[in-house]
Amino acid sequence: MPEYAIRVATTADHHAVSNVLTQSYSRLMQPAYDASMLSRVLPLITQANPKLLASGLYYVAQDAEDALVGCGGWSPEQPGEDGSQQGVGHIRHFATHPDFLGVGIGRAIYQQCETQAIVAGIVRFVCYSSLNAEPFYTALGFNTVGPTTVRMSSGCVFPIMQMQRTIKSTWRFSGG
Ligand SMILES: CC(C)(COP(=O)(O)OP(=O)(O)OC[C@H]1O[C@@H](n2cnc3c(N)ncnc32)[C@H](O)[C@@H]1OP(=O)(O)O)[C@@H](O)C(=O)NCCC(=O)NCCS
Repeated sequence: MPEYAIRVATTADHHAVSNVLTQSYSRLMQPAYDASMLSRVLPLITQANPKLLASGLYYVAQDAEDALVGCGGWSPEQPGEDGSQQGVGHIRHFATHPDFLGVGIGRAIYQQCETQAIVAGIVRFVCYSSLNAEPFYTALGFNTVGPTTVRMSSGCVFPIMQMQRTIKSTWRFSGG
């Protein structure tokens, strides 16, 4: 089992996060989208988001040689918007390098997000999942709301699955 550690991302991770997004999305989205769609969308969605990197709400996984092998996070804002809705958090830019799939990196990053979001008063996570990632989010306890689309800055319309998950602290003060 490969070793990895999770830490909060910084703006210095921009290049390495873009590399993980590129490696992951370009290979793992192939079964769900046709080649012409991917050629239009991949250049737009494989660039690390500077605002997320600086937010303290975005995480990276690094291997024993400190290479980045996974990333993901959350934001109070809906992707592409500035406003936020009280109690709602949005899952953002999850990716695991194809050589490190299935060893728990995505789940470990999600757990960091959930713990942090609960402290921040979030009670529901919303996720615009790529079609290929729906089983991953289902395994994390998300429910499928239904198919929808995202209009990219290029005008391209990208089919995705909206998913959501109620989150809440299980901690209870037992008195004493
Ligand atoms: C989705 C993704 C991040 C999952 O990463 P990962 O590190 O391999 O996930 P984990 O190993 O932590 O798996 C967590 C759980 O999800 C399940 N899972 C992950 N991918 C799955 C798949 N394709 N089908 C079924 N189950 C899957 C695992 O079995 C595991 O279940 P368990 O913990 O109950 O045993 C990775 O496949 C990826 O980078 N995909 C391409 C990028 C992408 O589409 N990202 C989503 C953008 S919205």
